This record gives sequence, structure tokens and C-alpha cells, in this order.
Amino acid sequence: MVGTRAVAEPRAGSLDPAGPVAAAAADVWWLMLGLGAFAFTVFAVALAVGLRRHTPSAEPSPPGSDGRERTSRWIIGGGVILPLVVVLVVFAATVDALREMPTEAPEGALVVEVTGHQWWWEVRYPDAGFTTANEVHLPVGRDVAFRLTSADVIHSFWVPALAGKMDLLPDGTNVLVLRADEAGTYPSRCAEFCGLQHAAMELTVVAEPEADFDEWVATRRRPGAEPAGTAAVRGREVFLDSACASCHTIAGTSEADAADEDAVEGPVLTHLADRPTLGAGAVDNTPGELAAWITDPHAVKSGVAMPAAELTHADRADLLAYLAELR
Ligand code: CUA
Repeated sequence: MVGTRAVAEPRAGSLDPAGPVAAAAADVWWLMLGLGAFAFTVFAVALAVGLRRHTPSAEPSPPGSDGRERTSRWIIGGGVILPLVVVLVVFAATVDALREMPTEAPEGALVVEVTGHQWWWEVRYPDAGFTTANEVHLPVGRDVAFRLTSADVIHSFWVPALAGKMDLLPDGTNVLVLRADEAGTYPSRCAEFCGLQHAAMELTVVAEPEADFDEWVATRRRPGAEPAGTAAVRGREVFLDSACASCHTIAGTSEADAADEDAVEGPVLTHLADRPTLGAGAVDNTPGELAAWITDPHAVKSGVAMPAAELTHADRADLLAYLAELR
């Protein structure tokens, strides 16, 4: 077994918030729903009463000055004052909610740098000094500042249960601060159309207790596992000698030390076997799917930048043996 999707019940809804930033946005949503329902009910009741009073058989009352005054009271009250009050209340609640959403990294926040690519997520933990792909782990109860940018087109970072959307722009860095107050798995996917595989641009976000988070960081900081067995040892040579190594890096191998960190072409593979999916959520990470992916990535995820690996049958088998050990 190379890896499995996280089994914990995922929480994807923005109305099921698991942190203060998402909760503030959800509160505004409920307030808007409540006010909207109230205004609609008032309108519906007034309409029903009006229709009941003015049945076709009823004698129309002459529009004296008294009637006209009552009509203008309804128009001003229902058409001007009520909407104004609703808009002002929503405006005040929105401004209040925005104060829950800092735009600068607070003191002691964990910084995570996320770069959008067509179509995957490059994830860097600058303080711990490692890079991974398509997965983010967070410590529960601690502010996390995401520094968001893009290597190509505009993408959008959105973890609905934790915060609202924030764009990843090619020419700048946006900061999104959030906090997860409950441990869990939070599905996330790109929220801005970014090309053919926009829908297959998933990010797995896991919030866990600080001790588990530290353990995860420790595993991700380790270089790629030393291959055991002749097939895996040969597989590493295949990787380093093939076109794979011109886009992908595996920490601890000779090419990784020479790699230019600023020009990431493909997802880092250091702990590939430990990741739940391939192709940013395109398929589960199983030995069969990985073999299919390497043989013809376009059959799995059409339009992806990775070309099919031109390898002999033996080389491919050894490469897969090596990749399966990268935990
Ligand atoms: Cu990236 Cu849509």
C-alpha cells in the first residue's frame, strides 16, 4: 500500500466553521439569511393582506389625501427605510467580521508559503525549511499565515471550513491568516478558473494537535528514504538519469542539492509515497495509479505539464520500486 486518503470525516462546508475566521464569515451569512427572510416575510404578509382587502368585488375606496399619505408611508417605510436598515446592519456586521481577519502575520504565527501552479500546489514551510506538494498540515489553535502567490495564472486558495477565499496572483503575495480550532481533515480546491484541470487542483489540509504536527514536520524535513533492495537502488539511478529529475526533486539526492529553489517545475517527490493522492487529487496514490501516471499522465489528467516517461519496462519497474519507498 503506497498511501490512502485520510479516513477522518472531512469538513468542507463554510457553514460548518472550525475556526474564528470562517465562523465570523458564517455569522454574517446567517445574519443576511435572517434579515432577508424577515424582509421577505414582511413583504409577503403585506401583499397577502393587500390582496385580501382589494378583492375584485370590493368597492375601490376613493383615493383621498388620507389614502395617499398611507401609501407614501408604505413606500418610504418598506422601500427606503427597511432596505437601508438591512444594508447598514449587514455593513456593520461585515466590518466587524473583517476585524477577525488580519492581513498581516500575527506574532508567533506559523508561516506557510503556497504557490499555485497549473495544476498543483507547491507548499513551503520556510521556518522548518522544507517543501512539499498538495498537502498542508497545521497545528490546532495556532494562527497560520499563508503567503500566497502563483507561478503562472491566477488561482484561488479556499479552505471553506477555515476561511474565505484568497487569490494567488502571479505578480505579488497575498496573505491569508486563519486558525483551526478543531482537529480534522479539511478538503480544499482551487476556487478560480485556471485552465483545463482547474477542477483537479486539490489540496489536503489537516489540522492536528501540536505534537502530531511537530512529528509531521520532522518527517517532512527528512531527506528522501535511502533505497533498500537492488530494484529501488537502481530505481534511484533511473530517476536521476531520466527526464524526471529535470522537473522533480527528491531531497537528499545529488540533483536536489544543485536544484534552483526559485524555479520549481514539478512537485517535490521527497515523501511521495506518504501523500494521499496523485496529480493534486486526480487519483488515489496507489501503486497501480502511480504506474499508470508515469506511463501516460495525460490519460489520467489531460493537459498536465508532465510528459510520459520514456523508460524501458525494467527501468520503470525499478523506478516505481524506488518511489514506493519515499516516505
Ligand atoms: Cu488553480 Cu483553478
